[in-house]
Amino acid sequence: MKGVLEFLARRYIAGVGAEDAVSVARALNGSGILATIDNLGENVRTEEEAGASVREYTGLLDLIKSSGVNSTVSLKLTHLGLDISSLLARDNAGRIIKAASSLDNFVRIDMEGSAYTERTMEIFLHLRSRYPNVGIAIQSSLRRSAGDVRLLIERGASVRLVKGAYKEPPEIAFPRKPDVDRNFEILMKELLLKGKSPAIATHDERLLNEAIRFVNENNIPKGRFEFQMLLGIKRTLQKRLALEGYRVRVYIPYGPNWLPYSVRRLRERKENLFFVVKNIFD
Ligand code: FDA
Repeated sequence: MKGVLEFLARRYIAGVGAEDAVSVARALNGSGILATIDNLGENVRTEEEAGASVREYTGLLDLIKSSGVNSTVSLKLTHLGLDISSLLARDNAGRIIKAASSLDNFVRIDMEGSAYTERTMEIFLHLRSRYPNVGIAIQSSLRRSAGDVRLLIERGASVRLVKGAYKEPPEIAFPRKPDVDRNFEILMKELLLKGKSPAIATHDERLLNEAIRFVNENNIPKGRFEFQMLLGIKRTLQKRLALEGYRVRVYIPYGPNWLPYSVRRLRERKENLFFVVKNIFD
């Protein structure tokens, strides 16, 4: 079972070390695609583990600088100690953002499951009031996100809009996919019109086509927003959009803690599950 998962995960993950991620970023840059690198890890239990994650990220930022690749970084607050305390995660994120600022780089805070949404927003708003080089991800699956997007637009903060990768209860999230998609379209248009450097992060071709139609209709310049996709998904489309002159950024995860991320990716696609089940029973 682990072998099958590992085989499938290889499609979505750059490798174990930061150098693996940087060499994938270099190859993507060669096709005119930007990168954001994520050190895989979440829900650490000790301050030591959170401190190790800060060191990994500052080393990664140095490596991005010295290698000359065009890449930002993405991180999760539970990788920096959010399960231990909000203050610890905030201080750790602040150290990484400060290091990124001195290297002229940018940090995107991923959004995790709904147990963390409020604290992630609070920490983000605090950090954003001190540093301009930080942005956040918002999930169209959550009912609260329209309000969050409005607030973030007001504060001039950069939002990465995603559908949401976590299973959530219907009281706080839209249970039906068409409603998640509809909310994505509404928030996407609001961000494209009024947001600061929004990132439209989806592989959904209907929504991507609608984004392109909308920016043309409203004369929104291509440099004002970007499309983001995950490593290993819709590679031809990534290249085509970059060739058409859109800013395209690919999220590149790396590290030994590949399992939770890979399971989220595998769950998103029925074909992946069939493959796992077939291999278990073969
Ligand atoms: P949807 O699920 O409707 O898929 C559209 C099409 O894309 C599918 O029909 C299929 O062709 C293809 N596709 C989608 N997933 C695939 C897969 N795993 N394997 C192969 N093909 C696939 N989530 C979150 O909760 N917090 C976050 O911070 C982030 N960050 C983030 C960054 C970036 C750059 C991206 C692109 C995505 C995220 N996500 C995320 C994940 C996001 O919430 C969502 O789970 C995935 O992007 C899949 O949803 P789509 O928008 O692609 O639509």
